[in-house]
Amino acid sequence: MTPMRTPSIRTRLLVAFLIVAVASAAGLSAYFLHELEQFALRKLEERLETQARLVASMASVAYLDAGEGFSAADRERLQKSLEDAAPYIESRMRVLDEHGVAIVDSTGDIGDEYRDRTEVQQALAGQYGAATRMTDQGRVALYVAIPIMAHDKVAGVSYASATTFSILTLLTDYRTRLLLVIVLFVALTLALTELLSRWLSRPLKELAAGAEAFASGDHLVRIEPSGSRETRAVAEAFNAMSEEVHEAMTELKEEERRESRFVSDVSHELRTPLTAIRGAAETLLEGDVPEEDARQFLTTIVREADRLARLANDLLTLQRIEGATGELPLRRIRPREVVDRAVEALTPLTDSRGVTVRVEGDAPTVLGDVDRLQQVVANLLDNASRMSSAGGTVTIRLRKHESEAVIEVLDEGPGIPEEALPHLFERFYRAQISRDRSTGGSGLGLAIVAAIMRAHAGSISAANRPEGGSVFTIRLPIIGD
Ligand SMILES: Nc1ncnc2c1ncn2[C@@H]1O[C@H](COP(=O)(O)OP(=O)(O)O)[C@@H](O)[C@H]1O
Ligand SMILES: [Mg+2]
Repeated sequence: MTPMRTPSIRTRLLVAFLIVAVASAAGLSAYFLHELEQFALRKLEERLETQARLVASMASVAYLDAGEGFSAADRERLQKSLEDAAPYIESRMRVLDEHGVAIVDSTGDIGDEYRDRTEVQQALAGQYGAATRMTDQGRVALYVAIPIMAHDKVAGVSYASATTFSILTLLTDYRTRLLLVIVLFVALTLALTELLSRWLSRPLKELAAGAEAFASGDHLVRIEPSGSRETRAVAEAFNAMSEEVHEAMTELKEEERRESRFVSDVSHELRTPLTAIRGAAETLLEGDVPEEDARQFLTTIVREADRLARLANDLLTLQRIEGATGELPLRRIRPREVVDRAVEALTPLTDSRGVTVRVEGDAPTVLGDVDRLQQVVANLLDNASRMSSAGGTVTIRLRKHESEAVIEVLDEGPGIPEEALPHLFERFYRAQISRDRSTGGSGLGLAIVAAIMRAHAGSISAANRPEGGSVFTIRLPIIGD
């Protein structure tokens, strides 16, 4: 057994169209042929009636002329005229007397009795009579009987009949012709179906080909919209999807590249302090190091170990903030308090750098995580004071702008190189100016700040001040009371 295959659009259309074509052709033909038959029968009956009425009036005149009854001469005259007319009128004409007996017959069969026939009885009763019945030759014939009136009495019956043979011939003829029309009709339908199915399935085939290419990994495949409105819509939707997937894949690849760059950055950041520690330790191991130098090496080891610890700490912080799926534990916070606390915590550091820190203004309450926001301010203050020269001032200014609480950290340092501005908040990014790691941090400070601000639905930006130095601005949405 061959497995069943889902029928194609072409097959389905073909079957549907064939059913419609054949059914409508057959239905129409049957209706048409029936109507034609009825019409022909009606016409035949009308003809018989006309002829019968003509004969009836002739007979009526003869009857009255003779003065009650048909004379032999009248019968013969009538008989002769009907026999003469017979070849042309294609009907059999009879005149019956008041007992239903044929006294005149165009075929010459005088004497036959017809009073058993209903149409004759109707005519004898003064009415119009008609019937369809079999002839002795086995043909169907139509009979019309008309009363012959004389002095308001039925004097006899004018009786006409004709076979329906000519109608049957006509119908057979038409049936043959109709069959031909149906065959043509079906052939035309087949041709149309073929065209239509091609027209319908071409864009679908293109869609299928596109989808297959897409499935096998070509995410750049595009389908030219063609065909009907629906297939166009599908092609456009497909293209949109393809574009979206392409973008998502690109982003994913970009993300992967960032990840792997991050790993190599981390290794690089680890290698520098580790090399320094190893160098110092090896020198110490070799012995014979003067007391003064030994202290120097040990200081290096401690400093680099500190740096490693800081790096580990920062990485952990960053990972916690960025990996946090849930929300931060947010509480109502007064920004000024956060700033004051950060400044206080960093006082030993800023003092040691000889930098004055000034806090100005205030900002409305925000929702936030106190420790994280304090870390933000501390990081910015650490950077600003590090970039300042001794005797300089770092200003932290708080204000409200529209629906945001704004905190600006301004310094009088060298500012930020223009080309560094777009990268400042990337991990491990250090502007040229502070390449020297001995003064710098892990290079993760601003990345951590940016991540914390994102988690607060806030923002951070950096700019150079026209009067020199840089300004870091953070914004947080304020909450209504
Ligand atoms: N106030 C500032 N003025 C000038 N440059 C700054 C300032 N703050 C940060 N930067 C630059 O941005 C870089 C990244 O800062 P950050 O992420 O905190 O790393 P780190 O402090 O460890 O160097 C710094 O190396 C420095 O070049
Ligand atoms: Mg820093």
